Amino acid sequence: MQRFENYLKSHLLKVSSFHPCYEEALSAMLDAGGKRFRPQLLLEIVEANEPLLYDSALPVALALEVFHTYSLVHDDLPAMDNASLRRGHETLHVKYDEATAILVGDALNTEAFLLIAKSPLRDDVKIKLVEILAYNGGSAGMVLGQAIDCYFENQKLELKQIEVLHQNKTAKLIAASLQMGAVIAGLPKDVERALYDFGLDLGLLFQVQDDIIDVTQSQEVAGKTTNNDENKNSFVTILGLDKSLQYADNLAKKLEDKLESFDKNTKRALSKAVAHYLWRHK
Ligand code: IPE
Ligand code: IPE
Ligand code: MG
Ligand code: MG
Ligand code: MG
Repeated sequence: MQRFENYLKSHLLKVSSFHPCYEEALSAMLDAGGKRFRPQLLLEIVEANEPLLYDSALPVALALEVFHTYSLVHDDLPAMDNASLRRGHETLHVKYDEATAILVGDALNTEAFLLIAKSPLRDDVKIKLVEILAYNGGSAGMVLGQAIDCYFENQKLELKQIEVLHQNKTAKLIAASLQMGAVIAGLPKDVERALYDFGLDLGLLFQVQDDIIDVTQSQEVAGKTTNNDENKNSFVTILGLDKSLQYADNLAKKLEDKLESFDKNTKRALSKAVAHYLWRHK
């Protein structure tokens, strides 16, 4: 992922004005690091199937990271999770102010679509990518998940409802990352669908693990505010830690089985990107 990291560092948002900190705030959270999981998923699929398109896919991978970072900046706001630490740094509303954090989130959201529009891919491919990101990140995807997450604080949901919550707030963007890789690489429709389905389970596993991190890691280790889900419908608050670990194990096993259905290249690419998440609970 060094190539992606270099690309990101050389494509941080540049908007000069007489505003004293706007430009710095725009890039602060992108520059701060993170696992870069979503861009990695997209790039692994492209590299495994159409390596010559890798460079053209970089702006789209960046769009995913920019979009995800917008969701984190807003997630940390006082009106949502009220978190003070993210990616090892003070959150934007703490370092600057709340209006700046809201506006940076807005800017990153739209910037993601600008990056796709300007990428050197075929127009029909770009329209499909915009559609996938907008659908999975927007009103019937990540935003819906966040809305349910925030609205039902202090009200216990059923397990089935929590699965819906997590599928929307986290899994759909992860599934979209794999699907967008498939679209760039021009993979057949059935493979595109299979990758999206794999991504939904992978994203659910990712969020269960995130919920586990909230209760098991210090904020120094996690690089973000932890012990923050007490009033939330996290897997751990509803099922308890042991059952959440078991739930994650079962999902990991299901994903390992699903891996077998992909061809050799795609299987290797997926294994590389997700190994850490699948085998962590064994
Ligand atoms: C955190 O995402 C929010 C969730 C959807 C679980 P990541 O765990 O991918 O955060 P970064 O990108 O590594 O900071
Ligand atoms: C947020 O989930 C998911 C997003 C869509 C941003 P969390 O609230 O659990 O993420 P963290 O734990 O703050 O990273
Ligand atoms: Mg949250
Ligand atoms: Mg949060
Ligand atoms: Mg969390």
